[in-house]
Amino acid sequence: MKVEDVKKICVMGAGLMGNGIAQVCAQAGYEVTMRDIEDRFVENGLNTIKKNLSRGVTKGKMTQEQMNQVVNRIKGTTDLKAAAFNADVVIEAIIENRDLKRKVFEELDEICKPECIFASNTSSISITDMASATKRPEKFIGMHFFNPVPVMRLVEIIKGYDTSEETYEFIDELSKKLGKETVLVNEAPGFAVNRLLLPFLLEAIFTLQEGVTTVEDLDKAISLGLNHPMGPLTLLDFVGLDTALFIADYMYSEFQDSKYRAPTLLRKMVRAGHFGRKSGKGFYDYTKKPPEPHQFR
Ligand code: 3HC
Repeated sequence: MKVEDVKKICVMGAGLMGNGIAQVCAQAGYEVTMRDIEDRFVENGLNTIKKNLSRGVTKGKMTQEQMNQVVNRIKGTTDLKAAAFNADVVIEAIIENRDLKRKVFEELDEICKPECIFASNTSSISITDMASATKRPEKFIGMHFFNPVPVMRLVEIIKGYDTSEETYEFIDELSKKLGKETVLVNEAPGFAVNRLLLPFLLEAIFTLQEGVTTVEDLDKAISLGLNHPMGPLTLLDFVGLDTALFIADYMYSEFQDSKYRAPTLLRKMVRAGHFGRKSGKGFYDYTKKPPEPHQFR
């Protein structure tokens, strides 16, 4: 299949990443279905997209009419068959659970047309492993977006063991149509970005856990001392502590290397349901006044 023939993109998952991916696909002119397992997740995803686009209208970056056209291109649904039917590309952004992802791809393999390309937005799970749940491993690839998807310019493209060159070139071109820059990575746990990011984020939590400094001062130190847009603890709250813990555990199990060992504090916070922004509490309390990411800069 050629990129110019793509009409419909199915995004699996309406969460933090899923709704961002659906938004950029619709903004690029594609017909999008965004599927999640419950109506309230679909509604939340659609509302987030509308809120983000409205900000663009207020700032004069698009007209209300253009916003309406983008919104109308996105159909939210809980119906897997309806979402995937006749899709040219599926981009999966469901929770980071290997068994669940394999199960979803197995089902999609039955529903989707044979030429449909399968891409996963996993942050670390093996592309080869997920691809082996389907009968189209050559059409299976990693397409790793960054949060917030409409703003972050990179897509990390990951080739699995059987991914064809044709599929890679197709996804590279599609990513560029979505307004993104790309890098090609051969499959390895955490790919390239999270391989470097995770030890940094985990070390920030160890630093806090050992009482070296406070939440605010650590974020201030990194924001001002290294010129990062967000301190590491703000970034952890932004990414989701549950997601960070999942990636750390996965990388630790794959590499058996202590640089991916999760600090007890992170595990405790996740067990307590403090996932960061999305749950209202993490290193900061978002039920009160949320900290501005750029508060130190
Ligand atoms: N969704 C959509 N757009 C958003 C947004 C969001 N959640 N948050 C901010 N924006 C937009 C704003 O509308 C604004 O747009 P404009 O330039 O067109 O007016 C632009 O982003 C800048 O926003 P602000 O001026 O409000 O704030 P900042 O300048 O502080 O930028 C930020 C906000 C872009 C989030 C910045 O703090 C940042 O870059 N933070 C780091 C983000 C990061 O590292 N992401 C990667 C995480 S790792 C990951 O995703 C991988 C995974 O596998 C773990």
